[in-house]
Amino acid sequence: MSLKKNILALREKKAKIQKGGGDAAIEKQVAMGKMTARERIVTLLDENSFHEYDMFVQHEERNFGMDKKELAGDGVITGTGTIFGAPVCVYAQDFTVMGGSLGLKHARKITKIMDHALKLRVPCIGINDSGGARIQEGIGALAGYGEIFYRNTLASGVIPQISVILGPCAGGAVYSPALTDFVFVVENISKMFITGPNVIETVLGEKISQEDLGGARVHAEITGNAHFYAESELECFDQIKKLISFIPWNNSQKAKSFEPKKPKSKKNIEDIIPSDPKQPYDVRDVIKVLVDDSDFFEIQELFAPNIVIGFGRMNGETIGFVANQPMYLAGVLDCDSSDKAARFIRYCDSFNIPIITLEDMPGYLPGVDQEHAGVIRHGAKMLYAYSEATVAKITVILRKAYGGGYIAMNSRHLGADFVFSWPSAEIAVMGPEGAANIIFRKEIMEAEDQDAMRQIKVQEYIEKFANPYVAASKGYIDGVIEPAETRALLLHSLEVSKNKEDYRPTKKHGIPPF
Ligand code: HXC
Repeated sequence: MSLKKNILALREKKAKIQKGGGDAAIEKQVAMGKMTARERIVTLLDENSFHEYDMFVQHEERNFGMDKKELAGDGVITGTGTIFGAPVCVYAQDFTVMGGSLGLKHARKITKIMDHALKLRVPCIGINDSGGARIQEGIGALAGYGEIFYRNTLASGVIPQISVILGPCAGGAVYSPALTDFVFVVENISKMFITGPNVIETVLGEKISQEDLGGARVHAEITGNAHFYAESELECFDQIKKLISFIPWNNSQKAKSFEPKKPKSKKNIEDIIPSDPKQPYDVRDVIKVLVDDSDFFEIQELFAPNIVIGFGRMNGETIGFVANQPMYLAGVLDCDSSDKAARFIRYCDSFNIPIITLEDMPGYLPGVDQEHAGVIRHGAKMLYAYSEATVAKITVILRKAYGGGYIAMNSRHLGADFVFSWPSAEIAVMGPEGAANIIFRKEIMEAEDQDAMRQIKVQEYIEKFANPYVAASKGYIDGVIEPAETRALLLHSLEVSKNKEDYRPTKKHGIPPF
């Protein structure tokens, strides 16, 4: 055959594969409000930047009638492209091809692109839309999942790994996203569970919808498996692009610098915190007066909202923020908020992103529920993550810094480089009421007017301990500053920390309280 004829034949073959599972399956996909796998990739990546590999890969299963089935690309599209010019490796499961189910060859296409990402030191983005292990392939499918999980683990902390759940992600399929750094979900589209509703009904006799079992909101709000929640696929892709703009390509680089901008927020930093220490406020307002352009990109916004995490820029450089949120549960630390913060701190540390901690919390949440849920184990994760981190670590104590929370929120004692405090700070072992009731119990009990005596003793405690000056007198905080000085001081602290080097004892790896 002449080259021209060969070219025509190639085009025909490609066009057939690009049709995925065919018109009827595509129609079904669209009717579910979903884009096709190919549309997703080209929408996410820079225009004309996508290059596909392994288009002609085929499964080798011969049982259960599979010998007669040719599956376009074996149900997954893989390749490279760019996002805002940054190179990425990407794969998207094609639900129109046998429900995007994962057989061995499908898995090997994924592991091949993951290997590329690790070698090329670029982010790997996986778009999940699959009925799980291809049942006809049995052990081949299970082997495939295992090979993916192994690579997820090897790549962890070396390149950013991003999972996008745009359809079912069932059975063993859930564990690859769970091993990656950021998981994106979309309302009405994402469904993630180990055991589907039909199995639950058979085994447990409980009826539950896919949405209620593992829909987007469930994972964004309750389980914490998802880091970003969107109402449409387009919104989700914008979120991914924004994330990519904040993070470096790999762990030996820094995130891209942007042109420095002043904060846009018109809020007066001195007016954000109410004068009554019991009144709540939104700590994100403080972050927005600190970061360039007041642009704060929050992560896990709906999960454990008593702590806020996310990226902002200062002087054009990416910074990770960890801040107690007095608007929810007074900003206490509990199992979920400790998990949320600890994981983020480790992410920032792995990818050379300085961490700024804003502190205002009354300590760890007391109660049987928390104790039994493992607040000791979960709370320890934060201590571990901050102590282990060697990136620049700066803390500003805005108001309350009590008890274990004072230590956990990047205190000097866990290796903070700079700790500043606003004059409104209360740094003590516990809140004044609780403390006075314990240490002045006898005086209060014996007083004629117990309430009046309690008030006197609370005041005495506040004057003695619930201020920043005791900690400052011991050098545990480096400066008591006016709120208006905060941004300038943070910029300076970041600038002088640019060449920070910090070492930890040589070891294979630590044993964090997972
Ligand atoms: C083979 C599958 C499949 C699978 C879907 N299909 N899932 N084929 N293996 N796992 C096929 C269907 O047979 C159908 O083929 C086509 O994909 C579309 O599926 P539908 O069921 O028509 O779509 P929908 O109604 O939208 O339902 C989607 C679904 C459902 C909820 C995901 O297909 C489903 O429940 N699938 C099984 C999910 C599951 O239990 N997975 C766990 C597998 S075990 P036709 O030819 O009719 O178009 C597992 C363990 C791995 O993953 C452990 C690793 C550690």
